[in-house]
Amino acid sequence: MWLPCGGTSNYIVTHFRRRLFKAYFRDLGRRRCNVAAFMPEAAGFDGVSDRSALQEFSVSNSESFWAAVARQRLSWIRPFHTVQDCDLSRGEIKWFVGGQLNVSVNCLDRHVHTCPERVALIWERDESGSEVKVTYRELLEMTCRLGNLLRRHGVKRGDCVTIYMPTCPLAVASMLACARIGAAHNVVFAGFSAEALAERIRDAQSGTVITVNQGVRGGKVTELKKTVDTAVQSCPAVQQVFVAMRTENPVAMTARDVAMEEVKYQTNWILIKILMSTAGDYKWHAVVQEMLKEDVVCEPAAMDSEDVLFLLYTSGSTGKPKGLVHTQAGYLLYAALTHRYVFSYHDGDVFGCVADIGWITGHSYSVYGPLANGGTTVLFESTPIYPDPGRYWEMVQRLKINQFYGAPTAIRLLLKYGDEWVHKYDRSTLKTLGSVGEPINTEAWEWYHRVVGDGRCPVVDTWWQTETGGICISPRPSDADAEIVPGMAMRPFFSIKPTLMDTEGKVLTSNDVSGALCIAQPWPGMARTIHNNHQRFIETYCRPHPGYFFTGDGAYRSKEGYYQITGRLDDVINVSGHRIGTAEIEDVLNQCAAVAESASHRVFSQFVQRLPKTRSGKIMRRVLRKVVERDLDGVGDLSTLDDPTAVQEIIQGHGDLCGKQP
Ligand code: WTA
Repeated sequence: MWLPCGGTSNYIVTHFRRRLFKAYFRDLGRRRCNVAAFMPEAAGFDGVSDRSALQEFSVSNSESFWAAVARQRLSWIRPFHTVQDCDLSRGEIKWFVGGQLNVSVNCLDRHVHTCPERVALIWERDESGSEVKVTYRELLEMTCRLGNLLRRHGVKRGDCVTIYMPTCPLAVASMLACARIGAAHNVVFAGFSAEALAERIRDAQSGTVITVNQGVRGGKVTELKKTVDTAVQSCPAVQQVFVAMRTENPVAMTARDVAMEEVKYQTNWILIKILMSTAGDYKWHAVVQEMLKEDVVCEPAAMDSEDVLFLLYTSGSTGKPKGLVHTQAGYLLYAALTHRYVFSYHDGDVFGCVADIGWITGHSYSVYGPLANGGTTVLFESTPIYPDPGRYWEMVQRLKINQFYGAPTAIRLLLKYGDEWVHKYDRSTLKTLGSVGEPINTEAWEWYHRVVGDGRCPVVDTWWQTETGGICISPRPSDADAEIVPGMAMRPFFSIKPTLMDTEGKVLTSNDVSGALCIAQPWPGMARTIHNNHQRFIETYCRPHPGYFFTGDGAYRSKEGYYQITGRLDDVINVSGHRIGTAEIEDVLNQCAAVAESASHRVFSQFVQRLPKTRSGKIMRRVLRKVVERDLDGVGDLSTLDDPTAVQEIIQGHGDLCGKQP
């Protein structure tokens, strides 16, 4: 025995073990430290030492995950006592029960305490190069004045205010003013017709409307106040219409109208007047400074977590639009967390979501997510090609935008105009590019990545819906070097558990399969009901796959376990037993240089000048389906189409194709 005694060998072994243990814990400590730097709450999660463990924890301990995040990231008036109380099969969803908070305080006051002069909004007006910046302090002032105004005119907690305005600071202040006094808002996209607006006002039982005299988009003036006048003729419950001035042109006023111009003199509404003014060189800053000396206070209402924050109407594939209901705490928290992590938003970044506030994307990622995070958010009033196809990238350069979030339809359009419109401008501030609303075809994705992002910015194809409140599937967050597959949303967000179902409603457990996309457990951002029609909510989302939230979309799960959305399920085409989504067919068609874009329906090709699109750029496929089925009576309401005459052309073309007149 060359070792003199067992004690020594024990010592060596023990010593060695200790070193191993130390190294293990040092490594663990480092990884924990990394994951805690990434998300501070993770330090309190048992066994979470890296990002993938954090993701797993958020799914299997969703309550602990959201409880910690809610305590850390929201300011509560009263803490919640129950994290969640949900039963998906009955469509009962409650988060943060017992808690009270005010959303406007979370979006404004708490940032005014720490950084009052930080820019909250950059209003990128239709007139290029005339942007207006609004600090957190100014936005709080505007919100309080509006809140007081609404209160004085009898708007109460629980009422619903319809907002029919272009994307502008006053529209954001109107949303936040509703939140401040406990009223729900119902933003209707300012491109909708009088009939579509009236239907939404009536269904929401809204007694108050806020609008502007005229809208300006792509250099064209639209008569928003006149549209409201027509709409309210069939809305007897509307008692008052507040009218702000976006242009200098006067409009006819009726007894029920309240001119914000007049109110201005009673309540010192100078800031609003100036923000709505077209006079770009107005010395509004000095006036604002004067106004700030006044004590502008609007007591925030203490809202329960599950009180309604807003309704937002979305067209179903059939029938009347659904007023999806989102509530206070869960929605705000989910918008904030997804905004921070999907886009890797850091303090000081300028976030550029170009969606209109009339859509859920505008709600969650132009307004609530960025403001809850104390961010700087761009409000884009214009179009991608006004005054020319360089508009987005010139804006990126001028406003130094760090995250750009847009729609595939715009990317496809710009791609056709060529790379020079992009190359003209400095895009070096860009860090992340996002896409939302439809499947992004590979060609558009590659162009976005290679040309717009110079191949250096992650492109996040984000899948979600009005119903989900915020992004549910997206390539990020993940490790900085984690692969991103073109045209794939890929990875579920924290706590999201996607599930694919086969045609018999059985869960598909393997990879490399396609099925109906469901989500297996509730998350705080999900819609709670359809306004006035909980039964429809249950039937649409909860009944098709009991115990799961049914999204209505089809998805493919790759061999690696990544998700790709294949389109609405009702558009899925079955060819020789293979389920093929519209996205896959369109992907092939779009590669052809002569094709600007396409929308597929079964095996049928027809060339058209224009596709029937909603004003948010989505192709209205039900119209195509009805034309093909020659069911012209079933085409239904076309008032939400951007250009209803496109349908006539398609009907005509289809008739010619079939050798018959329609
Ligand atoms: C589609 C928009 C593929 C999908 C936020 C969904 C997408 C509907 C994607 C919701 C995506 C949204 N890839 N399809 N990244 N994002 N969709 O309510 O069919 O206007 O159900 O919300 O858009 O549209 P919504």
